[in-house]
Amino acid sequence: TRPITIQTLNEHRVAGRAFSCLTAYDATMATLASDAGIEVLLIGDSLGMVLQGHGSTLPVTMDDMIYHTRCVARAATSSLIMADLPFMTNTTITQTLQAAGQLMQAGAHMVKLEGEAWLAETVTALARRGVPVCVHMGLTPQSVNALGGYRVQGRDSQQADAMLSAATALEQAGACAILLECVPGELAGRIRDLLNVPVIGIGAGPDVDGQILVMHDMLGATTGRPPRFVKDFMAEAGSISGAFRAYHEAVTTRSFPAPEHCF
Ligand code: KIV
Ligand code: NA
Repeated sequence: TRPITIQTLNEHRVAGRAFSCLTAYDATMATLASDAGIEVLLIGDSLGMVLQGHGSTLPVTMDDMIYHTRCVARAATSSLIMADLPFMTNTTITQTLQAAGQLMQAGAHMVKLEGEAWLAETVTALARRGVPVCVHMGLTPQSVNALGGYRVQGRDSQQADAMLSAATALEQAGACAILLECVPGELAGRIRDLLNVPVIGIGAGPDVDGQILVMHDMLGATTGRPPRFVKDFMAEAGSISGAFRAYHEAVTTRSFPAPEHCF
């Protein structure tokens, strides 16, 4: 099959076809997810929690990210591979360029970093050097200590306006995609309508271009109480491949997320 590129995602966006994204950390799962039609595989720093047992994503290192990016990239799937820049690897533009370069050399096609309008200069520096960037906004888990927990962002109109203008500024700076985590669906829809790059949502409602979930969550492999936006696709599908196919189908037909998954 034709490899998925950022151009493919944009074609989906323009045509109004929702695309599916999923985290992946190893070659076997990456192959199964890609074979199920999932367009984007994210090596998320959520691996700090679901693989390493940490309470947050903060302990994840560049070495961890490089190792898992190589594992996923080695599966040589047709999916677009996106990798997270872990906590404190973007303290200067030079450091960010080096870290992003390492992820791209490990096999990523795109990098994701958490932040807001202040990232504009960094995004431009990466874009100029051929590194497609996705900016993760809303609930940014690397800032959990500053946010005071994992909670919905952008509920008041001041916060919402700031997010809208930041998204525009980041698109102008050269961002290829925006990821919104845990924001009211209405705000996510306004951001999507404003932008000409794909908007990917998790806990951001149905009015975005793509959906993403953490693999363990959608397979029902969770320890605590799963977040509201998660659906266990394993429960009905009965197999890992079946769950991936059901998720892809539910996203592309826009039957997921349902109202009970949204804020
Ligand atoms: O690390 C991760 O899994 C993520 C997704 C939740 C978007 O950033
Ligand atoms: Na992440």
